[in-house]
Amino acid sequence: MTKRTIVAMPGDGIGGVVLNAAIRVLEAAGFDADYVNGDIGWEFWKNEGNPLPERTLKLLEQHKLGLFGAITSKPKDSAISELAPALKDKGLVYSSPIVGLRQHFDLDICIRPCKSYKGNPLNFIRKGTGDTIVEPEVDVVIFRQNTEGLYGGVEWSNPNSEVYDAFMTHPKFLKNFGSVPVEELSISTRIFSRKYTGRILRAAFSHAKKFGYKSVTVCEKPNVIRETSGMMYKMAQEIQRDEFSEIELWNTNIDAQMMWLTKNPENYGVIVAGNMFGDIVSDGFAGLIGGLGFACSANLGENVAVFEPTHGSAPKYADYPESIVNPIAMIASACMMLDHIGEFEISQQIQKSIADVVKSGEVRTYDMMKMVGSPDVLQKGAASTDQMADAIIRNL
Ligand code: NAI
Ligand code: MG
Repeated sequence: MTKRTIVAMPGDGIGGVVLNAAIRVLEAAGFDADYVNGDIGWEFWKNEGNPLPERTLKLLEQHKLGLFGAITSKPKDSAISELAPALKDKGLVYSSPIVGLRQHFDLDICIRPCKSYKGNPLNFIRKGTGDTIVEPEVDVVIFRQNTEGLYGGVEWSNPNSEVYDAFMTHPKFLKNFGSVPVEELSISTRIFSRKYTGRILRAAFSHAKKFGYKSVTVCEKPNVIRETSGMMYKMAQEIQRDEFSEIELWNTNIDAQMMWLTKNPENYGVIVAGNMFGDIVSDGFAGLIGGLGFACSANLGENVAVFEPTHGSAPKYADYPESIVNPIAMIASACMMLDHIGEFEISQQIQKSIADVVKSGEVRTYDMMKMVGSPDVLQKGAASTDQMADAIIRNL
């Protein structure tokens, strides 16, 4: 097989250190690839006025596979004030480069598995009958539509008259907002298309079928958000009926789901949702399996795929002399890349090693020891980012 080239995009904050840890593990496990650096993040916004430089898009176009750490996004005011002086008056507008990347390459399918590792002290537990404690085994895979919906970027503050007039033709807008001065209005839209709704639904059903999950749950709010959520649920019913009749179709509302996920998380298999509700429900389930240090993800398009931990750049831990953050989310994301390209054996080997290290409990990062993050957690017995990666490498 030809050697692959992976575009390694560290980004900001802790992105670089977790990405390095993951690449070390990949190499130790025998995954033979070249890595090229892809620039992305706040530095490039400040110095070039673009957090997602064209050269990085070119690299991804060429090599098709990316590993991404995390970026820092800051509010509008800081985005302008931190720009290099020469760029300040150019009318540049910051937007998140990871959202931009998903949209540029049409990475419409986001997969976020949340599977509990045995022996993880951060696993969710609940009271059973009497004085018993139950530790439900969570094995959920969230399919989140990644490019449309509320994060689609179609939004306005103080909309121009064309937009405003168009909204005024809607009776509910007229009734509820018709007397609000236009300069006091901010509008963000939630647009779903049949094409991408169908793609995320089919991806979810196919995954359930391939890996033996008994149900697919559409987690939206069709009783209130009747057009978009309603369309997704109706399409799910048709797809289930015509193509996946062996898989059960369940329907939950996002708000109720956030309550049920602590009552009976073991009941769920594959969950599918639009962009924002998928973001919410996946963070919710991630909390049951150890939180951001464990939450991995894939962003898949038809040509390009980018794999990243769900967490952000955790700036407060970025400048520690020795990094304390947990690299497992990034390493597990790298395993999703291996699965995507058919390197199942190496992926299984790494995943088993992570599971063994977590189970043995000898090496734990600060989050797994329920410590508050600070540089002295290492003196108190927590493992550093590199020590965790080393333990996973030793166990391979
Ligand atoms: P965050 O995920 O960076 O950090 C939140 C908290 O989670 C941290 O303070 C830390 O306690 C914990 N945490 C995160 N990663 C961890 C790890 N690997 N191991 C152990 N603990 C970990 O989210 P926050 O603080 O809301 O945002 C920080 C910056 O990251 C912001 O600029 C935000 O815009 C950006 N962000 C970027 C994302 C991305 O690149 N995909 C996603 C989320 C936030
Ligand atoms: Mg999120």
